Amino acid sequence: MSRQLKFNIFRYNPQDPASVPHADTFLLEETPSLTLFIALNKLREEQDPSLMFDFACRMAICGSCGMVINGRPGLACRTLTSDLPAEITLMPLPVFKLVGDLSVDTGTWFRATNSKIESWIHTDQEFDPQATEERMENALAESIFELERCIECGCCVASCGTANMREDFVGAFALNRMARFIMDPRDKRKDADYFEVVGTDQGIFGCMGLLACEDVCPRSIPLQDQLGLLRRKMGFIALKSIFKRKG
Ligand code: SF4
Ligand code: F3S
Ligand code: FES
Repeated sequence: MSRQLKFNIFRYNPQDPASVPHADTFLLEETPSLTLFIALNKLREEQDPSLMFDFACRMAICGSCGMVINGRPGLACRTLTSDLPAEITLMPLPVFKLVGDLSVDTGTWFRATNSKIESWIHTDQEFDPQATEERMENALAESIFELERCIECGCCVASCGTANMREDFVGAFALNRMARFIMDPRDKRKDADYFEVVGTDQGIFGCMGLLACEDVCPRSIPLQDQLGLLRRKMGFIALKSIFKRKG
């Protein structure tokens, strides 16, 4: 027998002065293989066309359908209702600017953070479209690709107590991104350059090891390993510079 699902959904439109934050309740018959993404579309089509939420790809690639599902950040398109209790509470991701209801503006946050950590390969080499691609060891290319799988969904940032308390903290997303560049031999930045960007309290030393980031990452990126490596590397650079100054 199919279940009757009860949705408690956060509603608020910051553009409308008459709108006040509250929760609306919707009922929906559960169907086989129902994802939250399909359920929300059904609710919007059949019950309330004003319901706001984001999606584009429906397959955990675009990163736009992140929301807090029964208290835990996750992707609506990859969450089956059969994995949840019959009562489902949906909230927008914290940290990011609310657009309305379940829709948040992750784009502005990610653009600003990417630019803060200079999230690109720094090289003096001119790009030559005719040149053959440079070779890289397979194992290294795979390690870089492992970290490149981030879809900028914001779940790790929304789940992090530090990111929720401190606007200036760059979050696990950015620390993972930095680890990716440190690994890449094409990036010619020196240790001191990396240190300046993430060897700070806004970077790796602001991370309190709360671990939620890796738990919620829908791409299962090994964030803890990368954060651990980065912490050790930045600690080592700091010690080196202290001894250099004393010597
Ligand atoms: Fe999303 Fe994972 Fe990337 Fe964080 S690291 S933004 S949780 S994909
Ligand atoms: Fe936050 Fe993850 Fe560090 S949850 S405090 S970035 S370990
Ligand atoms: Fe693209 Fe969910 S709709 S990740």
